[in-house]
Amino acid sequence: MRIVLIGFGNLGRGLSRAFIQKAGFLRETHGLVPRVVAAVDEFGAAVDEKGLNLAGLLNAAENKGTVAACEGGKRGKTALDIIENVEADVVYELTPTNIKTGEPGLTHIKRAMLAGKHVITSNKGPLVVAFRELDSLAKKCGVEFRYSASVGGAVPLIGLARKLLAGNEIREIRGVLNGTTNYILTRMSTEGAPFEIVLREAQELRIAEKDPTLDIRGIDTACKITILANSILGMNAKLSDVRVTGIDRISPEAIRLAKEAGQTIKLIGIARRGSLEVGPKLVPLGHPLAVSGTLNAVTFELDLAREISIAGFGAGPKETSSSLLGDLIDIHRTLGG
Ligand SMILES: NC(=O)c1ccc[n+]([C@@H]2O[C@H](COP(=O)([O-])OP(=O)(O)OC[C@H]3O[C@@H](n4cnc5c(N)ncnc54)[C@H](OP(=O)(O)O)[C@@H]3O)[C@@H](O)[C@H]2O)c1
Repeated sequence: MRIVLIGFGNLGRGLSRAFIQKAGFLRETHGLVPRVVAAVDEFGAAVDEKGLNLAGLLNAAENKGTVAACEGGKRGKTALDIIENVEADVVYELTPTNIKTGEPGLTHIKRAMLAGKHVITSNKGPLVVAFRELDSLAKKCGVEFRYSASVGGAVPLIGLARKLLAGNEIREIRGVLNGTTNYILTRMSTEGAPFEIVLREAQELRIAEKDPTLDIRGIDTACKITILANSILGMNAKLSDVRVTGIDRISPEAIRLAKEAGQTIKLIGIARRGSLEVGPKLVPLGHPLAVSGTLNAVTFELDLAREISIAGFGAGPKETSSSLLGDLIDIHRTLGG
């Protein structure tokens, strides 16, 4: 498989490390030999149609600030140059999320599909802005489109629901989908500390971003619920269809009262046909959604299996490479490999 990496930050690097570490496993177990023929960041690109040296690529990005500094690198080359001019089978779109325009990821994904390349992305922006359009374009262009890593990081939510639970009607999806807010709520609960203090400490530990608005106001969770509603429930939902309440008004007193009643407060996203919602909810202690720290968890409510819950790491370059690699193996199998 000839691969192009658009974006070489946390995930591009994590995936490259996984390609190095798991080369033998991928070849022996899956008959898959991934060959990264190009990598692009904001400064330029590295291209080698015989396959880039991934250790050299990582070294250039980590020590010289861009993939363009490695052998075969060119400053100023853009993602669109590469997508259109380098022969490849799969494009990984791993650039930053923009939930207003979906760019630059949206254009990268469309151009890759139009150029006949399969696409794997972790980027929520294009999926929130144009899910149906991208889904149709992939079909029209005859290419595969996967986005497991965009919701739940390492937790295989979309594959579980669409493949293994395919015999069920999925009545509701309910989940803790944002590690930052779950970390804050967990510490408020264990230490009785106020929201502002825990948020500040989470920022110092880099668990919360400098501008945490999208997380604490529930918007990141709303994006993920929109993607799950569209990809699993077959809806045509927009971000504006989600009723959203954040966690910034939760007091230590509310958390204490919940605890006394054997409950905990979690930021929960809920998708059912006709109703999408994000907000703080009471969850019984011991319930599969009562996960702590930065973990994510989701419960599917089903007609046959009743309830199935799954939990795991919702972010992190190594953890998320599980989903990114899983999507590649899935495409390889779909194509008969
Ligand atoms: N990190 C996680 O655990 C995680 C988990 C799930 C989903 N995601 C999502 O996955 C995506 C990637 O995450 P990340 O943590 O790897 O982000 P990141 O560390 O910020 O890396 C983004 C990369 O994209 C590059 N880039 C930005 N604009 C570009 C453009 N126009 N053309 C080419 N490259 C461009 C950046 O280049 P420079 O370095 O030169 O600026 C950087 O290499 C995001 O959408 C994120 O929300 C992340």
